[in-house]
Amino acid sequence: MKPSAIILLLLIWMQAMNESRPDLPGTWEVLVHNARIASMHTVVTRFNTVVLLDRTDLSPTEHGYKRYHCHMDPQNPQDPEPRPDCFTYSSLYDLTNPYLRALTISTDTWCSSGQFLPDGTLLHTGGDYNGFKKIRMFTPCETTSFCDWEELDDVELIQGRWYSTNQILPNGSVIIIGGKDAVSVELFPPRTGGSVVNFPFLADAADDQMDNLYPYVHLLPNGHLFVFANDKSVLYDYTNNVVLKQYPQLQGGPRNYPSAGSSVMLALTGDYSSAIVVVCGGAQYGAYNAMNITAPAKSSCGRIEATAKNPVWEMEDMPFRRIMGDMVMLPTGDVLIINGAQAGSQGFEMASKPCLYPVLYKPDEPVGSRFTILNPGKVPRLYHSTANLLPDGRVLLAGSNPHSYYNFTVEFPTELKIEAFSPEYLSPENKFTRPTIIELPEKIRYGEGFYIVVTGVMGLPKVNIASAPFATHSFSQGQRVVKLDVSIAWLAGKLGWYRLACKAPPEGRVAPPGYYMVFVVYRGVPSVAKWAQLL
Ligand SMILES: *[C@@H]1O[C@H](CO)[C@@H](O)[C@H](O)[C@H]1NC(C)=O
Ligand SMILES: *[C@@H]1O[C@H](CO)[C@@H](O)[C@H](O)[C@H]1NC(C)=O
Ligand SMILES: *[C@@H]1O[C@H](CO)[C@@H](O)[C@H](O)[C@H]1NC(C)=O
Repeated sequence: MKPSAIILLLLIWMQAMNESRPDLPGTWEVLVHNARIASMHTVVTRFNTVVLLDRTDLSPTEHGYKRYHCHMDPQNPQDPEPRPDCFTYSSLYDLTNPYLRALTISTDTWCSSGQFLPDGTLLHTGGDYNGFKKIRMFTPCETTSFCDWEELDDVELIQGRWYSTNQILPNGSVIIIGGKDAVSVELFPPRTGGSVVNFPFLADAADDQMDNLYPYVHLLPNGHLFVFANDKSVLYDYTNNVVLKQYPQLQGGPRNYPSAGSSVMLALTGDYSSAIVVVCGGAQYGAYNAMNITAPAKSSCGRIEATAKNPVWEMEDMPFRRIMGDMVMLPTGDVLIINGAQAGSQGFEMASKPCLYPVLYKPDEPVGSRFTILNPGKVPRLYHSTANLLPDGRVLLAGSNPHSYYNFTVEFPTELKIEAFSPEYLSPENKFTRPTIIELPEKIRYGEGFYIVVTGVMGLPKVNIASAPFATHSFSQGQRVVKLDVSIAWLAGKLGWYRLACKAPPEGRVAPPGYYMVFVVYRGVPSVAKWAQLL
């Protein structure tokens, strides 16, 4: 074959591969070709399993998992008549011995919220129809045993919550904030006397297309909450129900549902007195009401030191416009921005121009050199898709269903594939830099020192802990990375083994109680994490 023919074939191949760019950092792989459901809400458990969850009012589809007990579908007005639904829309994916097991859930989980409790149980709240006030629990287990959803009958939310955000608090309670027509917060376990507390900020932040749903909530190390809705944000003292501070408006228009970009609090470090919040992307204001699927999304990010006396937003542009991107805190403290579209808004049939290129945001670099464009994926992940950090440092991508029901014959079909993206730190060149954790205590206590035995390091590595957030609608509820103080390393018996002296976070305001992935990071390359319970 002539060289020109080879080049032509190569070009055709690259086109067929949907313009993969192996010259750019990062690699993709398909983990599951047909997960049977499009995960709208995704959570990683301490047993290295992944809970996948969609709406449960999708009947009738030939997807989901057939189960033995049928129930009547909730009163979905889009359904001409209630029908028995014999499918379940939740499953458990085992990362270690890859397989999927159906879980059973009956009440509607559409646009619900969640958070892990200190004992590792997943608290899952709200949804639509018969799930509006529902409280559910999932207690993860070893994959050799059986565990399933429990939908509580003896206790329910005080106010129905659809599109709310949960955040675990320093004392292990969970605050549940907002939702459609819910200008209030409530706690789990509920306050004595059981009442909701009004939170007028959410009403102030609403506009004629809402833009105050799924608020971005970050627990700051000063113990107060940073709550962001539309283009407004406040410092909220949830103990006394007072707004302590109003931050300046973020330029560029709304950033929350149905115009959502995404948001993270950067890794907490040093003496933990400072916290920086970043908000990136979003829809053009008005695109949702006008159902304008070609209105270009925003490319701007705002960054603010939420704990500063007189904080201001510092603005910077991403290399791509993006709505419905997911911001994932990596074990290194860098941020992966992935998924989403370049035009339109959230909602069914509302977006176009998928943004297949992930970008990496390096927060410690100066403005102008923080973004790196990464190797693009092939699967559009638009509305109702998720991204979660895995204990091995990869990022799991699931879902995408911009249609009212499952639909495989349209431009952006319901997506049943599950993929993993490996950031550059997992590239073959870094194989010999990758440290391995040999030993880690199962429990670590606030403010106390503890040891990690590690191999594969030469100097002092970093030890960073990451929570397992509840990912939905391009925001990961309760996402948190905390860099620990590591003082010395000395030889630990075997050749190449080192014992690291680490200090646990000082208190729950820095890292609420619960299970964390503990990563040893050496020269920018994370180990596989081991889980530890912080208490
Ligand atoms: C946690 O703190 C909140 C707010 O200060 C309080 O209302 C709640 O009762 C506390 N929860 C526990 C379990 O002590
Ligand atoms: C959609 O928005 C873009 C950008 O604002 C505008 O140019 C275009 O005319 C709009 N399309 C429709 C159908 O309104
Ligand atoms: C899929 O979407 C197309 C276009 O909107 C529609 O005509 C078709 O009926 C849908 N199919 C299903 C199974 O809902």
